[in-house]
Formats: sequence, C-alpha cells, structure tokens
Amino acid sequence: MSASVLVLGIETSCDETAASVVSRETEGRGEILSNVILSQFDEHAAYGGVVPEIAARAHVEALDRVVQAAMDEAGVGFADLDAVAATAGPGLIGGVIVGLTTAKALALAAGKPLVAVNHLEGHALTARLTDGISFPYLLLLVSGGHTQILLVRGVGQYERWGTTIDDALGEAFDKTAKLLGLPHPGGPAVERAAARGNPNRFALPKPMFGRPGADFSFSGLKTALRIEAEAIAPLSEDDVDDLCAAFQRTVTLVVRNRIGHALDRFRAEFPEIAEPTLVVAGGVAANKALRAGLDAELSARGFRLVAPPLVLCTDNGAMIAWAGAERLALGLLDDLAAPARPRWPLDQLAAPMLGSGHKGAKA
Ligand code: KG4
Ligand code: ZN
Repeated sequence: MSASVLVLGIETSCDETAASVVSRETEGRGEILSNVILSQFDEHAAYGGVVPEIAARAHVEALDRVVQAAMDEAGVGFADLDAVAATAGPGLIGGVIVGLTTAKALALAAGKPLVAVNHLEGHALTARLTDGISFPYLLLLVSGGHTQILLVRGVGQYERWGTTIDDALGEAFDKTAKLLGLPHPGGPAVERAAARGNPNRFALPKPMFGRPGADFSFSGLKTALRIEAEAIAPLSEDDVDDLCAAFQRTVTLVVRNRIGHALDRFRAEFPEIAEPTLVVAGGVAANKALRAGLDAELSARGFRLVAPPLVLCTDNGAMIAWAGAERLALGLLDDLAAPARPRWPLDQLAAPMLGSGHKGAKA
C-alpha cells in the first residue's frame, strides 16, 4: 500500500495558466513535485486589465503544454496519479471551463477520480502544505479578485468573517495605478512609487475604520484619490509618489483595523489556543508595507503570521493539487457533472455581498 497520494492540479480561473503535481503523505505532509505557471501579462498589457475572452483563449492555447510540463518535471505519468484536481470556481467562467473540462477529460481517460476545487479553498489550505499548520486558523486573502477574512475550521469548513462590499484590495491598487498612469499590474508599481513618496501630504478617508465587524470597502478611497489627483493635475512624479504613499498607508491602517476585530473574535471563540495563527495569501500579500503593518498588529496581540512564499500566495496549480489531495484523503470526490461556477462562496451560509469587479465575481 502506498503511503502517499499523487495529485495533478490545474488552475485557470484568472490570468495564470498553471498546473502542478503534489504528493501528500497519509499523515498530512506534502511535497511539491512540480509547479508550472504561465502568466498572461503580455496578452492583457495593452488593455490595462484582464480581458476575460482573451484569458479563456490563452488558457485553451497553453494548458496542454503546461500540464505536460508539470507531469514531465514531476517525472510521473497519468497512470501514477491518484486524482486530477482543477479549479471549478469562483473566477472568470471561460477560463474555469477550460481548466475543469481538461481535468475531466484527463480523469476520464486515465480512469482517475476528479476533485472540483474551490479556488478559495486552494488559497485557504496552502499554509498546511508549506507550514503544516493545524486547524483552526484565520486566513486573510488579499488578491485582485478577493478580499476576505475566513475562519478555517477544517477541510470544507469555513466561516467568512469579513469581505469587501465593493472592490477587492488588489483591484484598488490596480485602479489607483491606472488613474495615476502607472503600469499594470498596479500593486508593485504603486508600492515602488509609495516608497519614494510622502504619506502625509494627502489625507484620504479610511473606509470602515473603527466600524464593528471585519468587512472592507475600497471604492470610496479610490474616488477620494481621484478627486485629490484632479485638483492638482497635471501630476508631477512627486505628486504621483505622494498619492501612492498616502493610498498605501491608508489601506494598511484599514487592514490592521479590520484584522484587529477578527483577532479579537478568534481569541474569544478559541481561548484555549495559546498562539493562534493568521495566514496571509493573495498577490497583495507581497506588499512590504502591508506585511509590516500586519506583523505589528499580530505580534502585539500574540498571534503568529504565516505567509507562504509568494509563488504559492498568488494563483498557482500547487494550491489546487494540495486542496485536491486533502479532499481526496477525506473521500470528498466529484463526478464528471461537476459544474464550473463563476461565483462560489466558501461559506455557503454567508449572505451574498454586492459588487463584482473587473477581475470577476468576488464570491
Ligand atoms: O493573487 P493574485 O496574483 O491574483 C488574483 O487576483 O487572484 O493577485 C494579483 C493582485 C493584483 O491586483 C496586483 O496588483 C496585486 O495582487 N499585487 C500587489 C503587489 N503585488 C501584486 N498589490 C500591492 N503590492 C504589491 N507589491
Ligand atoms: Zn486567487
């Protein structure tokens, strides 16, 4: 009897075409045997954002090669796999259909079980692959498509404690960059400009700051920034740097405040856990100022920050393969009728929130 399982994971829900082979030991340890990611930056650059139809077509063109590369790098054949996992949502529906249909075809041809993975569950469970952490823990997911605070109780057991009522945080970075004439993706460009700027020159509103609960809102901030920018246009390089610095400092303060509420709630619900963990994931987790702010907030409250390496924080196939392996271990399999879902909240009981951004539904 084999002591570990091998799972192929496919991710195509946004603008990365990704595939990975991961192994998982019966006692829960994992190993990434390959992790191939093809970003579509060039395809979308001219449009200043992700164009869903272009993304879907690019996935169709690249996926076969990406899957083969992941299998070759791992040195395994389809017959060696124990399951095929793919993102079945939430995300841009054209891309999700490409990945899920490919996974179904591979599973059918190789006679392997299919696992239809919720993309958010992939993000939520990654820290168990990288750091072997145990349940329960908190997850802060901040990317171009999602901004959520989740309680992770177990595989398939999530409670959404906070979410954005409008734009995702990465989307706010991207829109700020676009407004100020910085390149896409906006996050890294805004961070570079902010490092040169004076965060105190502009006073921006801090949406939701101090309100009860752990929800976020970022669209008013973007409007306030636009009004400040229009008032002093044309903008010099210094103006752009100062606006970016003000934006970054403001969102860091807001995230600290919202997270603070979730940490208090976690303490109250799990007083027996001496040093609880917060996992941060998503592309915005790359932001150093935000990370430093989070670190300060967490250590002041006796929490541990776990941040998987960036390549596993942003969209990738390994997180889908790993979530597939965790579900497989519990017998949570899907059949070939599994639907592709543009919206798919992890917490099925959570009230739907308003808003759907340029990167698709935020679940
Ligand atoms: O997780 P991700 O690669 O893709 C999804 O959206 O699922 O996240 C991409 C987002 C983009 O909005 C990008 O601008 C943002 O993460 N991002 C950053 C930084 N690097 C990437 N935002 C702020 N600071 C960064 N250094
Ligand atoms: Zn993601």
